Amino acid sequence: MTRSESVSRREYFKWLVSVGGTAALAACLDAQNEAPGEESVPIPKGDPSERPDRQHAWNDALETDDAGNYRLPTHHVLVAFNLLDDPTADDADTVESALRSIESAYGYDSDGLLFTVGYGPSYFERLSADSPIPEPRALTSIEDPVFDEFDGLIHLASDKPDVVLEAESALFGELSKPNGVEMDATLNGIVERADPRRTGFLGTGQPAAHADEIGGLPDGISEETPAFMGFKSGFQSSQAPEDRVTLQSGPYAGGTTTHLETLDIQLRAWFTQEDHWLRVAKTFSPEHAAEGTVGETGEKLDTATGAAEAAEQTASDARTEGVVGHAQKTARARDEDGTAPLLRRDFNTTDRDVPGLHFLAHQRTIDDYVRVRQAMAGEDIDGVGQRVNNGLLQYIFVVRRGNFLVPPRSKRSLPGIGEA
Ligand code: HEM
Repeated sequence: MTRSESVSRREYFKWLVSVGGTAALAACLDAQNEAPGEESVPIPKGDPSERPDRQHAWNDALETDDAGNYRLPTHHVLVAFNLLDDPTADDADTVESALRSIESAYGYDSDGLLFTVGYGPSYFERLSADSPIPEPRALTSIEDPVFDEFDGLIHLASDKPDVVLEAESALFGELSKPNGVEMDATLNGIVERADPRRTGFLGTGQPAAHADEIGGLPDGISEETPAFMGFKSGFQSSQAPEDRVTLQSGPYAGGTTTHLETLDIQLRAWFTQEDHWLRVAKTFSPEHAAEGTVGETGEKLDTATGAAEAAEQTASDARTEGVVGHAQKTARARDEDGTAPLLRRDFNTTDRDVPGLHFLAHQRTIDDYVRVRQAMAGEDIDGVGQRVNNGLLQYIFVVRRGNFLVPPRSKRSLPGIGEA
């Protein structure tokens, strides 16, 4: 029996995305062609002129749930890359041509391809230019992360597993006609892939589809759970509007920044040591648990979680309940007018053979991220431990951090050449 016959199609596609490469892509396409009783839906082609100038402007292209919250694509690949040589203006044209080919191959939506290209501090050093973003550093006293040191990061996202694989392979010259469209150029000879290649997924049923990669899901977790720790996230009022994360001035106006934090999750302990009441209290707030406003996986929430109101009770909850929620303490870092400063586009992963999260967030400045992350650490809150009863911190462990500049689309291809 082949692997595609022994596991569900959904599991099989997740597995292929994590494996990557042209062999995985071929298997992915075969499996789709073989699908019994299912017509293969053509993947929409695209038009580069329809893409907005902000690389991070995905919201217009995303689907929404019944309440109106944006739904991120299901499959994600994070491709790290390094420059091979000092880049030239011709190289920048070639990169742009490759990216435009990909935009011609796929529509600007979740059935097609959404992507961003970002650059780390080492890229700007290579150009002898001042880096517009800081080097990553440890942000709390309970972490000792590895730092991303490669030059750039491409984030590829689609509901179709073959699209993320095919786009990655086409960019690096491993196939010439993604979705039937000829590549005018590739990144080969200008950049090379670097480690780590990262992958992930999110959405209803996705954690269950990955269960075998982490030795099975713990008891108590629903097959339908949208994320490993059991609750849906990304409710509209707790997400920054795209304007809020967009650089307003300077050479990269119209761009944004990415912070990428990889975490391991102790999922079995989360489901054995805590009951549903405490999981709600520690994820949202003790009031959410007492009032039953969340539901099993967040289905009772609409577009607002109530975290902003609960934020005001963080200190008193620590004193009287002895526990504070992740969302409530993190919402303390909202802007004065109540706007959330981070646009979270994070997704679960099994890259490290344990349940994990690639927490990818866009924000105007990395300082915004630091402010929110330190509010989440809650080192200022009396009455809870550094980890114990302090939101999710007893169960999540920071592994890596990286900072990237995501220029506007017009400057996304080897930015800054000739401007140093
Ligand atoms: C495994 C780790 C994590 C899980 C399971 C998780 C889950 C959640 C959930 C369920 C919510 C409430 C729903 C929502 O507002 O979308 C939330 C809110 C939030 N989380 Fe996380 N999160 C994790 C890690 C992080 C990290 C590393 C950050 C970095 C700062 C973060 C920042 C936020 C923010 C800013 C909010 C919204 C707060 C507000 O309402 O203003 N989360 N998270």
